[in-house]
Amino acid sequence: MGKIASSSQKNGAGFMGWLNARLPVTQFYKDHLSEYYAPKNFNFWYFFGSLALLVLVNQILTGIWLTMHYKPDAAQAFGMVEYIMRDVPWGWLIRYLHTTGASAFFIVIYFHMFRGLLYGSYKKPRELVWIFGMIIYLVLMAEAFLGYVLPWGNMSYWGAKVITQLFGAVPWIGDSLVEWVRGDYLISDATLNRFFALHVVALPLAIVALVVLHIAALHTVGSNNPEGVDIKKHKDENGKPLDGIPFHPYYTVKDIFGVGMFLLIFLFIVFVKPDMGGLFLEHDNYVPANPAVTPEHIKPVWYFTPFYAMLRAVPDMQLGALIMLLAIVVLFFLPWLDRSPVKSIRYRRWPFKVMLSLFAVTFVILGWLGMQGATELYKLMAQVLTAFYFFYFAWLFFYSRNEKYHEVPERIEDH
Ligand code: HEM
Repeated sequence: MGKIASSSQKNGAGFMGWLNARLPVTQFYKDHLSEYYAPKNFNFWYFFGSLALLVLVNQILTGIWLTMHYKPDAAQAFGMVEYIMRDVPWGWLIRYLHTTGASAFFIVIYFHMFRGLLYGSYKKPRELVWIFGMIIYLVLMAEAFLGYVLPWGNMSYWGAKVITQLFGAVPWIGDSLVEWVRGDYLISDATLNRFFALHVVALPLAIVALVVLHIAALHTVGSNNPEGVDIKKHKDENGKPLDGIPFHPYYTVKDIFGVGMFLLIFLFIVFVKPDMGGLFLEHDNYVPANPAVTPEHIKPVWYFTPFYAMLRAVPDMQLGALIMLLAIVVLFFLPWLDRSPVKSIRYRRWPFKVMLSLFAVTFVILGWLGMQGATELYKLMAQVLTAFYFFYFAWLFFYSRNEKYHEVPERIEDH
C-alpha cells in the first residue's frame, strides 16, 4: 500500500501516473520546459531560437503537403509546381508558406547566430551547442539548395550545374565526384530524383535530430544571457538559480509575443509580396529549365550570396571554392579563436565592438555584392571584404588573448 502511494505521489494519478511509471513524460516536460530555469534577462535576441523551431515546423508541414502534389520528374516538375499554384485548393498558400519559410529560416538563423557572437554564447561551456548549431547551418544550406532545384526552373537548373561543378574542385577525384553527385554527366532527371529524396527525407531527418542534440546540449549546461553571467553560481536553498526564472510561464508568454510579431511580418510577405521583388523567388525561375539558355546572371538566393561573392572574388575556381569552404569552417572554431574570458559584448571594450560591427557590415555588403553583376570594381570590393572576413578571425585570436575588459558583475543586476 505504502509503495503504491509513493509511486502515485511521484508519477501522479490516473492515466498520467500510469504513463509516467512507464515513460517519464511529466518529468521530461518539467526538465526541458516548465521548470527549465532560464536567466531572467533574456532580450530581443533570445526570440530567435524558438522562432527557428517554429519555422522548422512550418517547413516540415508545408513540405509534406507540397510533396502530396509534386512529382520529381524532369518532364513534369515545372508543370507540377504550376498545378499546385493554380489548381490545388490552397496550393498557392502552402507553396508561398514554404518558399517564404525558406528565406525566413535564414533570416532567423542569421539573427540567432549573431546573438551568439554578441554575447559569446559559443564559449565554454557551450562549445558543443555552437558546433551542433554550425552543423545545422551547413545541413540547412544543403537543404535549401536542394529544394531550390525541385521546381525545375531555369535558375534551378543552372544553379544546380554551378554548385555541383564545385565538387570538381576536389583534387584527383573531382570529375568523378561531380558525376557521382549528379548521377549523370549532366544535370538530369536522375539528379532531380536524388535531390528530391535528400530534400524530403534525408536532410529533414538530420536537421530534426541535430536540433534535438542542440537543445539537449544547451539544457545540459544551461543558457547564456545578455550579461554573460553564469546564473548557476548563485542558487537558493532549493537549488534554483537566484537569477533564473522557470521557462513556463515567463518565457512561453514572451516567446508567444515574439511569434506574434514574427507572424505579422511573415504573413504580410506571404500574402502581399511572396517573391520579394525577386529576392525570395527569382524571376528567372519562372522559366522552365533549359540546358540551351543560360540565365543572364546566374546567382543563388540571397542567403548564399555572401559566400558566392567570395567564390567570384577569386579568379581560380579551385581556390575560390576552398575560400568559400574555409569561410564556413572557420566559424566552427570560434569557441577556440575567441580567447577572452568575457562573454558578453557589454563588458568588452571598443576594439571588439568596432571589429564585430565591421565584421557584420562586411558580411552584409558581401551578400549585396553576390547579387550584382561581376564588374571590376565589385570584384575588387569583394576581394577586400573577403580578406577582412578572414582577418577578423585572425585579429580576434591575437587580440582576445590579453584583452582588457570591464569588470563583469557576479549577478544579473540590471533587472
Ligand atoms: C534549425 C535551426 C536551429 C534551431 C531550431 C535552434 C534552436 C535553438 C533554441 C530553441 C535555443 C534556445 C533559445 C535561445 O537561446 O534562443 C538555441 C540556443 C542556441 N543556439 Fe540554436 N537553433 C538552431 C540553429 C543554430 C545555429 C545555426 C547556431 C550557430 C551556429 C546556433 C547556436 C545557438 C547557441 C550558441 C545557443 C545558446 C545561446 C545562449 O544560451 O545564449 N543555433 N537554439
